[in-house]
Amino acid sequence: MGKNASARHISEVGNYGDGREYYASKYVMEHAPPNDSDAVLKALEEFDVRWTMLHLGKEKGELLDKALKEFILERRRMKQQAVSCVTSSTTCGKKPNHPIRALEIGTYIGYSAIRIGRILATEADYGSTLVSVEQNYDNAEYAKTHVEYAGLNKTVKVLHSRVEKYVDDETTSNNEVEVGIDENENKNENSLFPLYNYNRRPYDFVFIDHRKPFYLRHLKLLESRGFIDATITTVVADNIASLEHVKNREESIARGKRKGPCKCVNNACDYLDYVGRRWSSTEIFYGNGTKDGISVSKP
Ligand SMILES: C[S@@+](CC[C@H](N)C(=O)[O-])C[C@H]1O[C@@H](n2cnc3c(N)ncnc32)[C@H](O)[C@@H]1O
Repeated sequence: MGKNASARHISEVGNYGDGREYYASKYVMEHAPPNDSDAVLKALEEFDVRWTMLHLGKEKGELLDKALKEFILERRRMKQQAVSCVTSSTTCGKKPNHPIRALEIGTYIGYSAIRIGRILATEADYGSTLVSVEQNYDNAEYAKTHVEYAGLNKTVKVLHSRVEKYVDDETTSNNEVEVGIDENENKNENSLFPLYNYNRRPYDFVFIDHRKPFYLRHLKLLESRGFIDATITTVVADNIASLEHVKNREESIARGKRKGPCKCVNNACDYLDYVGRRWSSTEIFYGNGTKDGISVSKP
């Protein structure tokens, strides 16, 4: 698998082009036993100390875990409420009666997909799944290898595709086969990953972690095609508004130089402004050692 250097910028290509993903993968195979997702994550974290990688990392990973676990608990609570309202005469709210369907944009080599997958596999309803979309072929191949090695291939599906293409493919396809670059792979599989078109339901939980300047554009695209619904989908996004950036803005407002909240593209403030208006609640969480935050938008 590829160690080919690229002349394009890292944020565009999605990996360093110097082979570090190859060595990270090798490190995982040598230091983690198979079918042990915790050990795979630990190996990726250890390697990250030696050689900087693009993963979310442990601290923000734990913030992502927390958001997902809270989401699972909230669904359980809503389900119980729905059961008790059948037996009483109270007004019933929304009843989530299907396994969780999660989507990740930006798999890289699978770190956050494994974090999400291990929680879905152990703490969510049986059959809960994550589809994770990655534009870079080499990254997607490493991610598939790591997901399988971690024993999560029944829960996590990595697709080599740009998210824009994934949305188009799924919207225009028929209901028979799973589409995308992995088309042949899935044709005869009794897949746990039904097509979006199969049931025309928005994803329940979405993690956005690809390129900040495109967060808002792609969120709107997913909304326009029904993949995301502000009344249903919990959306988590990484690399949101660094503390320094937020502080500078507050100081500018205090000095009268700026009026309202920031809407810049490069810190995903435009995204933040939008979800802040459309979702019921949006909070940003920062770790002690992290420059920027993770936003959690709840319906
Ligand atoms: C920061 S990394 C993701 C890290 C990963 N979520 C983790 O924590 O392990 C960003 C990834 O997004 C991918 N990416 C960028 N634009 C994309 C797009 N339009 N569709 C799908 N993937 C994209 C890049 O190739 C890169 O691998």
